[in-house]
Amino acid sequence: MAETRLPVVVLISGGGSNLQSLIDRSQRDLPIEIRAVISNEADAYGLERAKKAGIPTAVVDHRAYPDRDAYDEALMAHIDHYGPALVVLAGFMRILTPAFVQHYHGRLLNIHPSLLPRHRGLHTHRRALEAGDAVHGASVHFVTEELDGGPVVAQVRVPVKTDDSAEQLAARVLAQEHRLYPLVVDWFARGRLQLGDDGIELDGKKRLQPLVFDAKELPEQ
Ligand code: GAR
Repeated sequence: MAETRLPVVVLISGGGSNLQSLIDRSQRDLPIEIRAVISNEADAYGLERAKKAGIPTAVVDHRAYPDRDAYDEALMAHIDHYGPALVVLAGFMRILTPAFVQHYHGRLLNIHPSLLPRHRGLHTHRRALEAGDAVHGASVHFVTEELDGGPVVAQVRVPVKTDDSAEQLAARVLAQEHRLYPLVVDWFARGRLQLGDDGIELDGKKRLQPLVFDAKELPEQ
């Protein structure tokens, strides 16, 4: 394990299974220190996961703020208190203001349950089924002002079965998210990945296209 761990804050709204994959890997070989987990929902199960791992938690409830600007300002103050070099969105179900996104430019990652640019927004699994997609998946991207539109670092492809329900498909994708997200965070933590002026750089080379993996190519959790 590298001695230097990248300070990270993780934002969640729900179950936190992606958070769990980062916690588990950080206890093995992923060189990050999760300094805090912050949720906009007080009952997010991910907060329990953080507490079990001894990670500080905070709830910043959007309902307590008059508008999106005020909320994001408060959220930034909470995040910055922990001095993160990377902010990881792991099922954080909020649209972010330009001020927030600019503040964390180049150090804000999100995971989205589709093969972007397909199916931005919500209900991606249902929409993939309705569209008759044969392949679905998940994407990790840097966050920019365009919703689910920032440069995609890497994707995992997941086959769609003819009799899939949205729930079955979601579960199959989620299992792969747990492999993909720690991998990309690892690249960032080791200084291999950055967002340059012209887009993504990995190992000092510009990447014009995302890295695309099939599930079997990703390291097991
Ligand atoms: C994940 O599938 C993630 O990709 C998705 O929410 C789920 C959170 O699960 N994120 C989005 O839809 C963001 N727009 P988790 O709480 O178990 O990690």
